[in-house]
Amino acid sequence: MASMGSSRIFRVRLQEKLCQWGCYPPSFVADKFTCHRGGAAFGFSASAAAAAPSCCQERPRLKMSVTPPWHPGGQSRPQATPSIRRYATMGTQQPNSVPEYQVDPYRLLEDDLKDVYTYIRNALRKNTYQEDLYEIATYYFDGNGKAIRPMVAILMARAINYHMYKENSGLLPAQREVAMISEMIHTASLVHDDVIDQSDFRRGKPSVNVRWNHKKVTMAGDFILAVASIMIARLRHDDVTLVLSQVVSDLVQGEFMQLGSKETENERFAHYLTKTYRKTASLIANSVKSVALLAGAGEQLSDLTYQYGRNLGLAFQLVDDLLDFVSSSAAMGKPTAADLKLGLATAPVLFACEKYPELNPMIMRRFQEPGDVEKAFELVHKSRGLEQTQFLAKQHCEEAIRIASQLKESPYQKGLVVAADFVLNRMK
Ligand code: FPP
Ligand code: MG
Repeated sequence: MASMGSSRIFRVRLQEKLCQWGCYPPSFVADKFTCHRGGAAFGFSASAAAAAPSCCQERPRLKMSVTPPWHPGGQSRPQATPSIRRYATMGTQQPNSVPEYQVDPYRLLEDDLKDVYTYIRNALRKNTYQEDLYEIATYYFDGNGKAIRPMVAILMARAINYHMYKENSGLLPAQREVAMISEMIHTASLVHDDVIDQSDFRRGKPSVNVRWNHKKVTMAGDFILAVASIMIARLRHDDVTLVLSQVVSDLVQGEFMQLGSKETENERFAHYLTKTYRKTASLIANSVKSVALLAGAGEQLSDLTYQYGRNLGLAFQLVDDLLDFVSSSAAMGKPTAADLKLGLATAPVLFACEKYPELNPMIMRRFQEPGDVEKAFELVHKSRGLEQTQFLAKQHCEEAIRIASQLKESPYQKGLVVAADFVLNRMK
């Protein structure tokens, strides 16, 4: 395993702890923070040490074997769609990354997930007779997405229901709705994002903005969001409405933050982490919190689920930022090395700055000068930026696993553990 002697990781984690509550840390004195992994010595203050996560504890590898998945509700068991199958473990994961757990969340939730896209398309259909609008709005709901958000929301719903109610632990219709709403909010944001990024390709096909003009595409994104809002209102649960509305505000603010950059290295990390929380982690965190609230979970339990989702979401985006440097366009179904071209300095670049300070001016000019993208790409690969990014993602996954382990044991609770492994070891 990579050993990270760098103080950066720990500054990052502390900054992030503050970011999570919406606070911006002033500035961090790099030399104050040192940590010896596995040792007791932390070179930072007591309050900082208290905020330090369980990153310095080795997680014992979990060995799990599970009885066949439950099929509550007595529903008939339809054929799994090929797309869900395609995204089951072996399709997306590094070889040998998960078999020891013997739980494949996609298989476990086969019945729950198989109709998600059909339901979403129906919900959109019911709200418009305009063929163009329907076609554009449903373009990405073709069953080729990874459906990570619905998968995690349903896993959490079922895990929490079991945790709270044991036998009577079927999925509530409202929880299923949240899984769909979560995918709809995500997709609405991707539709807008593709217009903003002038994207060419997504999910292995021309992106929506290539097929239709920007005005129609933008309104189709608005439409998906509007239908998701109607679905939220129909849940008639004030706390869930608040929590899911916050997600939309976070998404917009995260995307907006991405348009700007900060002067100093520490400010940049804080900015990056807050942006990452808002753009990616907030949706996952607040979706799993919503299903917990719908189950009747109190503050402590719903906060626990939120923290699981927050850690998983941060790890997910860190891995995404890593894959942008190491994966192929064919594997990802979208162009890679795209972030630098868009002027974005993500974790691998920010980490690489420590060894190659010449990256700083390139970051400030958003890699706009000829040769910047190629040079930055090369320096990131020569540095330990990719390793450090993966290490940080791993810490978040370990934290997510630690949190999931606090729920009562069930196949779904184990599924939450495996989902964290999925996120860390995914290849697309
Ligand atoms: C993908 O980022 C984009 C997001 C995760 C969020 C985008 C948010 C907005 C456009 C704000 C509007 C929000 C709503 C709900 C309408 P990326 O470009 O890093 O990833 P990519 O490579 O998949 O495009
Ligand atoms: Mg994009």
